Amino acid sequence: MTSNNPPVLANQEASLKLGRSLVLVGMMGAGKSTVGRSLASQLRVDFVDSDDEIQSAAGMSIPEIFERFGEEYFRDGERRVISRLLEGVPKVIATGGGAFLNEETRQLIKDHCHSVWISADLDTLVTRVSRRNNRPLLVGKDPRKVLSELGEIRNPIYAQADIHVCSDMAPHSNTVGQILKALQSCKK
Ligand code: S3P
Repeated sequence: MTSNNPPVLANQEASLKLGRSLVLVGMMGAGKSTVGRSLASQLRVDFVDSDDEIQSAAGMSIPEIFERFGEEYFRDGERRVISRLLEGVPKVIATGGGAFLNEETRQLIKDHCHSVWISADLDTLVTRVSRRNNRPLLVGKDPRKVLSELGEIRNPIYAQADIHVCSDMAPHSNTVGQILKALQSCKK
């Protein structure tokens, strides 16, 4: 008896062809950029980080944008940059922690992409954000308090993503593996 099933491939990623962009959402410190870079290389597509793109478009760092023009201006740039990134060939896109909160951005992502919420417990987020001091929302504040308060508001919204994976203290390669596995059964 002959079978029409495709051959089983040894590598999980080898059997995946990304038909639409994969957008990573979640809190600061969740690991979106590190996980995204690795996912993109395994899926053999480009990786883009929306924060990096905003900084290049503005010719300024994110702290400078917040300081000179305020958060609202940053959010407007973020919305425009992400809608541009969503066009074109499928890629992996890591978004800044506030991007998915914007209704227009969220709808675009839901309509045209695979969305993945990477969550992590508070201890993990606090440890990871303490490695860098380039996040204006945390400067001069208690990161645990800010992250906890933002999480209350944001987590129900991140939960609207197609896929949810946890990236607690485990290595980022675990998170990458979880996402590749979830993508295989994604119906989109
Ligand atoms: C923000 C997260 C940051 C950056 C900006 C605002 C947020 O990105 O976009 O500082 O509102 O959570 P990361 O999530 O990559 O740290």
